[in-house]
Amino acid sequence: MAIVGLWKAGRGHLSYLFIPFAAAFSLFGADREFTPYAGVKAVLPADLRITGGAQWLAWCRRQDGAIRARLDQGDLDSIANFLLLGTSFTKQPRIPMDQMTAASKSGILRARVDDLVAGLRNPGENERLLFAQCLLRRQGIDPEGSRDPRRPGVFLYNNLLRVMNEEIRLGERIAQAQKLMRPDDPASLLNRSSAFRDRGVSLDTGIQPDFLIEQTLRDLKVRGLLREGQIARIAVVGPGLDFIDKNEQYAYDYYPQQTLQPFALYDSLVRLGLAKNDGLSVSILDISSRVIEHIRGARERAAKGAGYVIQLPREVSRPWPPELIAFWKSLGDQVGLAVPPIRPPEIFGGLEVRAVSIRPEVVRACESVDLDIVLERLNLAAGERFDLIVGTNIFVYYDAFQQTLALENAGAMLKPNGLLLTNDRLPEAPGGSMHLAGITVVGNNAVGWYRKQ
Ligand SMILES: C[S@@+](CC[C@H](N)C(=O)[O-])C[C@H]1O[C@@H](n2cnc3c(N)ncnc32)[C@H](O)[C@@H]1O
Repeated sequence: MAIVGLWKAGRGHLSYLFIPFAAAFSLFGADREFTPYAGVKAVLPADLRITGGAQWLAWCRRQDGAIRARLDQGDLDSIANFLLLGTSFTKQPRIPMDQMTAASKSGILRARVDDLVAGLRNPGENERLLFAQCLLRRQGIDPEGSRDPRRPGVFLYNNLLRVMNEEIRLGERIAQAQKLMRPDDPASLLNRSSAFRDRGVSLDTGIQPDFLIEQTLRDLKVRGLLREGQIARIAVVGPGLDFIDKNEQYAYDYYPQQTLQPFALYDSLVRLGLAKNDGLSVSILDISSRVIEHIRGARERAAKGAGYVIQLPREVSRPWPPELIAFWKSLGDQVGLAVPPIRPPEIFGGLEVRAVSIRPEVVRACESVDLDIVLERLNLAAGERFDLIVGTNIFVYYDAFQQTLALENAGAMLKPNGLLLTNDRLPEAPGGSMHLAGITVVGNNAVGWYRKQ
């Protein structure tokens, strides 16, 4: 056993014990542990000055706290996107980031801030407003009872300003990383230089990464690296929760918050014949209590027979590649039934919309677990380990050493030859258990397949 020992108590562990047993496989009782010191000794950066297991354990605890503290900042970033692009609290036109100056001059920004403050004072049943209200309260801003009535608006403006400044800095970083990408070197497409290493951890998600993963799985099958019916246990690290995207093209708040990746992945695996329709178990590993609770709620409703409805809007005027349109059209057909979609507000003129109700047994096959992939792993018996782990748009939030830790933690939970699929280049630990086995390129994006030795 690891020098650091196992730790069961703490965030999330006790509550997930009470979920009624539903799926064939459950992480019920699985222990979490920090990455063992013995496994990282050789790769520890000198400036950490860690020379023993106890110091390592203390460092892990501090790091874990620091990583989780970034979630609030990510939520505040989402509030800025909500302010600019939300349609559930205002009739004002949406403001893409690059039209901020014009929107400010015309008074549209001011009107949006006023409408959002009014919404925060009277959120009604709007779950995004209710969430934003709680988040602002945690920042010491009470939208309803502030002594200075301008305070909530000023807070929203300042938050927006902070996000805009960060976007400029991130844009420069991403441009630098893109300069190092070469079309003749697919591995360079994975190199995103930890661009989000110091930004708030956001929950943004959408259809694109799920499309990338389906294309990668198809590629792996064609190459004979994955066989029919081979996959039974999978994990999704960081599936996210669609609150409202930062990109205008994918930014919607007219439907309930939703997660897509676990269901899209299940759907893709069945479509490709890589998993059987009734034999898959999906573990969802995340640090966000919003994600964990969202999945738990869906599972509880599924236990009473309710499906999980996903809304799939597509702006027809945007040029999506034909393969992505085909994916959008089929998404969910292996795991659910098409249902009438929620009607989008008038402001979205050219939206084509699908909705799918995911079957309750598929939802019940998904189990969420609180786990920080950078520092933790589940201590699984050999027969319980995963065939496949998927983690997209998550490792870009971490620096090179953190990425190496995450790669080894994923490796510890995989079966021999199991795969981690991700759209980031993760530095391998010398003598470590995980190696980049290949890359699938899809347009300008790439997904690396890291194989457990
Ligand atoms: C930007 S979202 C990506 C969502 C989805 N994978 C996608 O590509 O659309 C990042 C997700 O990773 C989760 N996450 C971030 N850091 C994590 C960590 N250290 N361990 C586990 N989950 C993490 C976040 O809570 C969130 O659910």
